[in-house]
Amino acid sequence: LRVAALASGRGSNLAALIAARDAGRLPVEFTLVGSDKKQAGALAIAEAAGIPTVALSPKDYATRAAFDAALFDRVADSGADLLVLAGYMRIVDAAVVAAWAGRAINVHPSLLPKYRGLHTHRRCLEAGDTEHGASVHFVTAELDGGPVIAQARIPVHPGDSEDDLAGQLLVEEHKLLPAAVGAIASGRLRWQGGPMFDGRPLT
Ligand code: GRF
Repeated sequence: LRVAALASGRGSNLAALIAARDAGRLPVEFTLVGSDKKQAGALAIAEAAGIPTVALSPKDYATRAAFDAALFDRVADSGADLLVLAGYMRIVDAAVVAAWAGRAINVHPSLLPKYRGLHTHRRCLEAGDTEHGASVHFVTAELDGGPVIAQARIPVHPGDSEDDLAGQLLVEEHKLLPAAVGAIASGRLRWQGGPMFDGRPLT
């Protein structure tokens, strides 16, 4: 499976994917790592691994749709079969997302459908939840709203801070995301893109 990734920040989830590939546990080839931030740590991680990179700046484009089209064109040109949003912090234009339906996944630090969007650890603590988690889901036009592929759970202990939860969850994300990509790479998982049943009646 040929995999491209987009990341806005540190890139530890990208590093986990590369490590799984290097360990022979993930049969993928990385075609491109792209970012909306030229300083993203993820770009340095990709370069160190010999993966082509691209960084485009949203302020160089007149509209969100123009920026997204340009970045996703680069992803398509790389020959990727699957796009992984690994800490990519921008909402993507709906038409661009539609073109990648069933071929793009995202890792999100909450037990979706709880806490779509930002500040998931804080919201989990404020709600008094006793568990928290991370989800990998197919990307649709609805922010953090596509079908969930896999989840990992952690307990929330009295006195836990946002940073405590973020750190504990990241360990789980680093296992969950490679597992989800592996399931797609092996054909064990795929998006049906329609009814999950062919409708044949009982005989
Ligand atoms: C992860 O917690 C991810 O779920 C969230 O942002 C963080 C990215 O971390 N969307 P990294 O850049 O992969 O280290």
